[in-house]
Amino acid sequence: MSNQKNIRLVFCHPVCYRPPMRTAIYPGSFDPLTNGHLDVLQRAVKLFDRVIVAIARNESKNPLFSLDERLELMKPAIAPMKNVKADIFDGLLVEYAARQQAQAIVRGLRAVSDFEFEFQMALMNRKLAENIETIFMMPRETYTFISSRIVKEIARLGGDVRPFVPRHVASALAKKLVE
Ligand code: PNS
Repeated sequence: MSNQKNIRLVFCHPVCYRPPMRTAIYPGSFDPLTNGHLDVLQRAVKLFDRVIVAIARNESKNPLFSLDERLELMKPAIAPMKNVKADIFDGLLVEYAARQQAQAIVRGLRAVSDFEFEFQMALMNRKLAENIETIFMMPRETYTFISSRIVKEIARLGGDVRPFVPRHVASALAKKLVE
């Protein structure tokens, strides 16, 4: 009688092997979406199978656009990108990321001045959820001076924001500020 163990090795043919899906969350206030945000998103899309743009419910920031408005402004911008969806989230970012089975959080870094806050947030998120990595991506240099806050200020003061945001966002800003 053979004392060989009954070991069965199951090999998966390369055609049927599917590596696990890599998902990233790109969170933010997006009040409103800018060309800088889109540049970072386009970079993230190249690295992940699926990117979820997660718009934070953060009433303490007194946003100009409601959550639903921000979501509606996001939709046409992401429409040409495959495997990107937009969503709204509430509560802790890492908990949302875990629910979405995401491995990473993507944040844009424009300048050294962004670093301190981003570093603190990334380390705190790591403390809360060890298995979710924060990845920083730099937008194209021509976008490094754009921020939603400055765009809103320019729009309020009657300046032209069309170089800084998608066309439909510039229209929404103009409409919002005469309301
Ligand atoms: O575009 P913003 O305003 O810089 O985005 C900040 C945001 C929404 C990513 C951050 O405030 C956040 O993650 N909020 C969710 C609440 C949370 O998880 N807070 C702890 C982060 S350390």
